[in-house]
Amino acid sequence: MDIEEALKWTDDRLFAKTGKHLDSLQKAILEGVWQRETYEQIGDNEHCSKHHIRKEAWKLWQLLSDVFEEDVRKANIRSILENGRYSHIENLHIGNGDINVCRENPPYAKTAKKRSTNNADKVQTEKRHDLTEVPKSDRLYNRTQELNTLKQWILEDKIPIVSVIGLSGVGKTALVVELVRQIQDNFDRLLWRNCTNAPTLKSLKTNLIEFLSPPTETKSPSLIDCLRSHRCLIILDDFQELFTSGELAGTYQTDCQDYSKFIKEIATTHHHSCLLIISWEKPIELATLEGRKSLCHTLPIDGLGESAK
Ligand SMILES: Nc1ncnc2c1ncn2[C@@H]1O[C@H](COP(=O)(O)OP(=O)(O)OP(=O)(O)O)[C@@H](O)[C@H]1O
Ligand SMILES: [Mg+2]
Repeated sequence: MDIEEALKWTDDRLFAKTGKHLDSLQKAILEGVWQRETYEQIGDNEHCSKHHIRKEAWKLWQLLSDVFEEDVRKANIRSILENGRYSHIENLHIGNGDINVCRENPPYAKTAKKRSTNNADKVQTEKRHDLTEVPKSDRLYNRTQELNTLKQWILEDKIPIVSVIGLSGVGKTALVVELVRQIQDNFDRLLWRNCTNAPTLKSLKTNLIEFLSPPTETKSPSLIDCLRSHRCLIILDDFQELFTSGELAGTYQTDCQDYSKFIKEIATTHHHSCLLIISWEKPIELATLEGRKSLCHTLPIDGLGESAK
């Protein structure tokens, strides 16, 4: 699908649901995001400020979330449009490996439910991996030790919360992308989410549960139920977006303070899943949890230095 098709496809769905078409700024935002432009670049093209574009984009993502009945953000709109057109399972190429991307959200929900009624047992045990938000990454160099440490903590020690912390650009995301490529087969459920727009805990939890819970379930389970019933790996990238600037490192914004309780719950409740956090700063509650070794481990990442050049 190219951008023209994507715009038409989106506009058709918007019109069918609301009776309205995309306006020119909404089209420009979609086109810019499709081409991986920043809000500042889109603003320059449209002769307005990046703040205005950010505000309008936020409204557009809310609108499209209603239309597509799933959480739409800058980070995932392109994959939603690409996946929405063709198939609910496609191959995503990461490094040298292929990862199955299985989307159970609308516009595929009807298909998924129908399939589950016919073949419920099979669906329950099927692996479901959603890596549509994984950024593209080139081959990883010189991180064997870090990869081995993470594999030990996640696969052998079964630590429920693992964090990868380091400055912007040091290679946290690239490291975890490679880790995921290597360990994905160990998990029934695998989900990568970027916290770019600081999702509220409520919206994140709803999104996680929709993905993790079996489609045959009639009563909606809690997130902890999901983490118990399947071996899940949940990756939250750019977690620092939930923090406030100018205060103690790792302090949550007002709207995101309930994440602290959420993390403690995942660390201290019995299950066999893992939450992997990628961030510039360590969430402050992790410092307390690290006192109990089996609950949480942090891997600080430094730049590769001269050896990698
Ligand atoms: N070990 C590595 N081998 C090869 N390329 C790397 C390595 N580490 C990082 N890179 C490349 O460096 C760039 C920045 O890495 P990455 O995006 O992973 O940083 P980051 O720490 O996640 O930054 P941010 O916190 O801003 O998201 C990417 O293009 C990535 O592919
Ligand atoms: Mg990153």
